[in-house]
Amino acid sequence: MLKLSDQNLLRQHSYINGSWVENESKINVDDPATEEVIAQVSDASIDDAIFAVSSAHLAFSAWSAMPVNSRAHLLRAWFDLIIEHRDDLATLLTMEQGKPLIEAKGEVVYGASYIEWFAEEGKRVYGDTISPINNDKRILVLKQPVGVVGAITPWNFPSAMITRKAAAALAVGCTFVGRCASQTPLSALALAELAHRAGIPNGVFNIIVGDDAQGIGEVLTQHPKVAKFTFTGSTQVGKKLMTQCATTVKKMSMELGGNAPFIVFDDANIDEAVQGAIVSKYRNAGQTCVCTNRIYVQQGIAQQFIEKYKTAVASLKVGSGLDEHTNVGPLITNKAIKDIDALVQKALSQGACLELGGQFEQTHSRFYKPTILSGVTHQMDIVNSEIFGPISPIIEFDTEQQVLEMANDTEYGLAAYFYTRDIGRVWRVSEGLNFGMVGVNEGIISNAAAPFGGVKQSGFGREGSKYGLDDYLELKYLCMGGI
Ligand code: SIN
Repeated sequence: MLKLSDQNLLRQHSYINGSWVENESKINVDDPATEEVIAQVSDASIDDAIFAVSSAHLAFSAWSAMPVNSRAHLLRAWFDLIIEHRDDLATLLTMEQGKPLIEAKGEVVYGASYIEWFAEEGKRVYGDTISPINNDKRILVLKQPVGVVGAITPWNFPSAMITRKAAAALAVGCTFVGRCASQTPLSALALAELAHRAGIPNGVFNIIVGDDAQGIGEVLTQHPKVAKFTFTGSTQVGKKLMTQCATTVKKMSMELGGNAPFIVFDDANIDEAVQGAIVSKYRNAGQTCVCTNRIYVQQGIAQQFIEKYKTAVASLKVGSGLDEHTNVGPLITNKAIKDIDALVQKALSQGACLELGGQFEQTHSRFYKPTILSGVTHQMDIVNSEIFGPISPIIEFDTEQQVLEMANDTEYGLAAYFYTRDIGRVWRVSEGLNFGMVGVNEGIISNAAAPFGGVKQSGFGREGSKYGLDDYLELKYLCMGGI
């Protein structure tokens, strides 16, 4: 039984137009650590999704007309409530998603920080006046909210991926309909409960939980009243959703897959590089889009790095996220375990060497040991796939030019990391990496003040920072004549 200090945070129906909408059919939510069912949540229908869009559309005129300071006060109240209830929210998150409690608390606060940030940043939407071509005309540019925003968010960050989108949308006057992943709906529904308590008006923020990903996805991508669609998830699904959005030419932003290189040059501080690689790789058991996916180590320091990295990774404790000693929790599904083990087995059959880890032999059905593979080559599938699990493939390299070519040789372009103390190399490599985000001597780069997003098939649009507002605003040009 899921025990919280505030039991009303455990919500089990979709939140639409300020009310909890019950359905007869239910979705089981399980704890990935034990595989036990922890909640049963109403399975919303396509009609519920249409109702949510209509409600958001009706709410839009009053919400967008509300003075920006009043919207900011409501967002601030939402932020304060999330912080007040962060322990309960973290418990819900760990129980449905599996990540260690300390990471879950970190995610709740990180997610809330987007609400705090955008509550303020929403006040700083500036238009322009432009020098006119003719004296009898004036040119102005207004920025206006796009309207109803449809969003689909993933299971790996069930709290922060909602707030990162909704906060920017609400701050500038848009209304929001989000479909959260049905494996992890409890965090999103608890956020809805707190939005309600904060006084965010009915219809402004809606959360749908429904197993019919296809049908609900079609509503959010094709309904004429949805003006903008935003998605965080795989590149494969993102492409399909983009095609659907084309039917009504929606504004879009896409935060898709990644294949982050982590490069250690021979002049790096090796201990710092080891720590950076650990946090970047093993956070959330390797299930983040910005996770290190492949580690490149320059030949002269390769053995030294591997030894230190092995010692550090061997000390990571695998277990239920509720255990305070756990560093690496379970993966989200049994299929995820099968998929990553297949990648490991294939790499081994292609000549990689198992330095540490591998699959558990029995009982631990959704756990995978933190694993290190050495002797990996750039051609292996494990280097070219988004692993989404606690596996570190290590590839040795010779020159800066060679590693840049290998790092960029991917269809993805989300995050990249490198460690060096050479200031010239810092510039050359930062500029040479074809990725939306680069960590320089740093393994954790996400925060509300920074623009999160990728290039190439990792998507487009930015979340967080002053740039994060642009995705929810339209430019309107006014030409005033007869002056
Ligand atoms: C993601 O995996 O897409 C989110 C990671 C983050 O916000 O740091």
